Amino acid sequence: ALAKDKYIIGMSQCNLGEPWRVQMNADVKAAADQHPNLEVVYKDAQNDTLKQRAHVEEFVSAGVDLLIISPKEAQPLTEPVAKAMDAGIPVIVLDRRVVGDKYTCFIGADNKIIGKAAGEWIVKTLGGKGKVVELKGLMTSTPGQDRNSGFREGIKGSEIEVIFEADMKWLEPDARKEMESALARFDKIDLVYAHNDPGAHGAYLAAKAAGREKEMKFVGIDALPHEGIMYVKQGIMDATFQYPTGGAESIDIALKILAGEQVPHEITLGSRVFTAENVDSGGEAIE
Ligand code: FRU
Repeated sequence: ALAKDKYIIGMSQCNLGEPWRVQMNADVKAAADQHPNLEVVYKDAQNDTLKQRAHVEEFVSAGVDLLIISPKEAQPLTEPVAKAMDAGIPVIVLDRRVVGDKYTCFIGADNKIIGKAAGEWIVKTLGGKGKVVELKGLMTSTPGQDRNSGFREGIKGSEIEVIFEADMKWLEPDARKEMESALARFDKIDLVYAHNDPGAHGAYLAAKAAGREKEMKFVGIDALPHEGIMYVKQGIMDATFQYPTGGAESIDIALKILAGEQVPHEITLGSRVFTAENVDSGGEAIE
């Protein structure tokens, strides 16, 4: 049970410009609203690392009871998180990691497993060979790194060739621009693997503008109902891999920490793949 009737949780979100992050905050809020003794204060760093560092420092000087953070980039947010821990503030890290393991609990899906499953799905779907464009998420963030290395492992030993790769920083407009370069350079592209659904959609828009969208498949990650899943239903995308936000779980864990209970250092969330064949029956679990 909780000792005090009011606890302040600081929630540092790296940006709210993408639907997936809006969903994460909504998941945190819905869970926290069930507990009248929790008050969550939200800060949006608007995709600015320095701003996010300042937000964490502000939460520490305000003396919040607990910090939840989804960091934009691993390295620059590591020190502010460590300082919060030094100040005795428990920290829950969501989705993107910091460097090392100085935090109370990390919650997120395993991006290496998701990337590998995407790679294997692509090998199977293309019959073992083909030309692929990889549009990577921000490579200074851990999901970008892991969705890349997992994917490369998944296609190992096949004749899948990555003919073009670029860092689109998780952003649809950047993905669209990078895809325009890929389209200009290659007359044959079999598939685009984007590290998130906004990236896959940006690539689709570029291909469509060039009249080439039917020539290739599009695979992404996130599987929000009104984004990736909808694109799969519409036939715009061929597969999307679910990336749960962990927002609700972060409040469960916060309550345990505030009550003085032991919590696991790592909580790994599952994922599902959605394709034209299974999207109406809820997708299929991956492992
Ligand atoms: C949103 C987002 C998601 C992606 C996640 C990775 O900012 O780019 O699309 O799955 O972050 O951290």
